[in-house]
Amino acid sequence: MRLFVMVGAPGAGKGTQAAILARALGVPHVASGELFRAAIRGETPLGRQVQEFMGRGALVPDELAIRLILHRLAEPDAADGAILDGFPRTRPQAAALDAALARRGAKVTGALYVGVREQELLRRLSGRWLCRAEGHSYHAVDHPPVRPGVCDIDGSELYQRDDDRPATVRARLERQLPPMYEVVDHYTERGILTAVDGEQSIEQVTEVLLRAMTQPAR
Ligand code: AP5
Repeated sequence: MRLFVMVGAPGAGKGTQAAILARALGVPHVASGELFRAAIRGETPLGRQVQEFMGRGALVPDELAIRLILHRLAEPDAADGAILDGFPRTRPQAAALDAALARRGAKVTGALYVGVREQELLRRLSGRWLCRAEGHSYHAVDHPPVRPGVCDIDGSELYQRDDDRPATVRARLERQLPPMYEVVDHYTERGILTAVDGEQSIEQVTEVLLRAMTQPAR
């Protein structure tokens, strides 16, 4: 089993890289935020529980996040592994993942930490636009679509995430960075963390991560 976790602040590029790495490894890209947003769109009981936390930039309670991800990892397509994007985000989540994998005789193969300065995170998130159909990502300045408001790839409408408003982005950073550093410590202590400078180009970041993933055991 090859199970990698992406660690990084909101806007660091976890989702961008996780999608590329999952394709390269042939394992699913499991994004906790995306699963929560799907629950909100579907107006499920979970969606109703998490909406308020996400709306104010807070983390969803550990218990809900753990249940959601462990359930997803038990699906057949994740039997050989996955790229986890956005989970774990706290030490209790990291410990719960370790325990669940140990019950399957497995463990986290490697943790990939994408580091980006706060000013750049704010810039990235406030300029981000996503397509409704597939979530293809654009940036108002770095990567604008050919036709404003329309996805180049599938022609669907582009929208901004509710939590990408500047005030909510600041709240996300303020609340979520301290527990994220604890997750960094968790994997550093286990000797399986690779840190990459996330302010390089997307291609350069991918190259460093792919190299680390092929020689994860140190
Ligand atoms: P989630 O959806 O996971 O959001 P996030 O962590 O805030 O991360 P983002 O999706 O905003 O950014 P990213 O790091 O994926 O960057 P991206 O690749 O998009 O979580 C949303 C919410 O759900 C949380 O706030 C929380 O409430 C809840 N939640 C989720 N998981 C949870 C958990 N485990 N426990 C509790 N609560 C949980 O890139 C950002 C932008 O930068 C894009 O425009 C992209 O094109 C651009 N970009 C990417 N890489 C580069 C680069 N190298 N150079 C220039 N631009 C780049």
